Amino acid sequence: MSETVLVIDFGGQYNQLIARRVREQHVYCEVVSYKTPIADIRAKNPKGIIFTGGPKSVYLDDSPRMSGDIFTLGVPILGICYGAQFLVYGLGGEIGAAGEDSAAEFGRTDCSFDTGSPLFNGLKESSVVWMSHNDYIKKLPDGFKTIAHSAKCPYAAIENSEKKFYGTQFHPEVNHTEQGFNMLGNFLFKVCGCKGDWTMSGYAETAVKELREKIGGGKALLALSGGVDSSVACKLLANAIGSQLTCIFVDHGLMRKNEGDEVEAAFKDSGVNFVRVNAGERFLSRLKGVRSPERKRKIIGKEFIRVFEEEAKKLGRVDFLVQGTIYPDVIESGAGDAAVIKSHHNVGGLPKHVDFKEIVEPLRLLFKDEVRALGVELGLSEKLVWRQPFPGPGLAIRIIGDVTPEKVALLQDADAIFREEIAAAKLDRDINQYFAVLTSMRSVGVMGDTRTYDYTLALRGVTTTDFMTADFSRIPYDVLERASTRIVNEVGHINRVVYDITSKPPSTIEWE
Ligand code: XMP
Repeated sequence: MSETVLVIDFGGQYNQLIARRVREQHVYCEVVSYKTPIADIRAKNPKGIIFTGGPKSVYLDDSPRMSGDIFTLGVPILGICYGAQFLVYGLGGEIGAAGEDSAAEFGRTDCSFDTGSPLFNGLKESSVVWMSHNDYIKKLPDGFKTIAHSAKCPYAAIENSEKKFYGTQFHPEVNHTEQGFNMLGNFLFKVCGCKGDWTMSGYAETAVKELREKIGGGKALLALSGGVDSSVACKLLANAIGSQLTCIFVDHGLMRKNEGDEVEAAFKDSGVNFVRVNAGERFLSRLKGVRSPERKRKIIGKEFIRVFEEEAKKLGRVDFLVQGTIYPDVIESGAGDAAVIKSHHNVGGLPKHVDFKEIVEPLRLLFKDEVRALGVELGLSEKLVWRQPFPGPGLAIRIIGDVTPEKVALLQDADAIFREEIAAAKLDRDINQYFAVLTSMRSVGVMGDTRTYDYTLALRGVTTTDFMTADFSRIPYDVLERASTRIVNEVGHINRVVYDITSKPPSTIEWE
């Protein structure tokens, strides 16, 4: 097992970002809730511990706290913002309300560092840091000294070199903190003594070995959607157990143009049993006349599970069901749950009636871009690895109102042209999701000398990091113009093309 650093989540907004910053330095890192029992933390044998920020004041009754035993593990600790305050509070220091003492700081702040401390070793003596705190460190616990200060904050960073405990009032993980990445690096390498030997090729090797041990001679089943997660999971399993794996690809007929064939081509000869079920007609007949977006989602979700189960039954007893779950889905957050805006049915969700012994989730420790890096490592095509996210219900939620085979074909053609033009303009990696929507609205146009009364097609392109919020992409007019001209000329029954210039919120990324 690689050396591990634990990020203890106190409910701050940058927790996953901290984990990313650590992994980017080739140190394996996990996020765990502050509620995790100390014995479980000890069992993970961490080389270092990072306390995250959090929204609360340490003095509130309901603020997140851990047992003081965390300070007796003999493991270096870096506390960030709330995490630093918790460190101080937990070790007998004092925290003040910054508002009352005019010590609150938000945003970019000039800060000076003691470069004699291992945390700031080799860095510039002053630079900008990102502050965001209401409370502040007022009195240090015994054994601590200050190693950074700003105009308002005498204890911008603190150190107990004997115990290897560090705290920063600012956020080293965000890009606005100029030397933040190196500060985290110093904590990992100079304080914790990490080696930084966690790499994707090493991960792939270990994962294949572990999968072989776990599955032995058993049979495994995977629902392949063609998305990057299930594709990488499939490839990893193919390397580990070959023909003991059956992957079932339910083609619901609502994929993008040619996509079903592309998925088949990528996996047909990969050594696994590849089953493609062409269920387009079945899905379309169930969707006939259905206009409500949520109804469409439910119907597709249910039908998907049914088709999958029917196929799975033919295989007899299966020992393992493989899921493409990734790390952001499994992190148990210290904060509450977010509101559900759309019922995101993920094709590949867990079928209830397939008889299997255990679930295998070979990607559950990886972030999205690490899954892509693993895909590259395993030799998957760029096209699959960099595929933009595609919703489980497919084009059904990109056709407003009822879905017909004619509308699906029309949208597939228009969407393919838009994607070709985005790729030709080399924008395909910058725009995180881009697609066409058939609005089902008709309007008047003129082509040649003839009046037309045809559909309006909407184009959508967004940039986003987490898909929770998104900005519409500033696609150059000439690219939009080429796409629009080609779509109207090459696809029948579309006489108007519009570009969606709303962000999320207030809109969502998909139109339904
Ligand atoms: P929204 O439209 O909610 O989309 O802003 C956010 C992200 O989720 C995808 N999405 C879905 N994915 N099943 C899925 O598997 C769904 O029903 C679904 N609805 C939206 C959307 O494509 C975007 O990436």
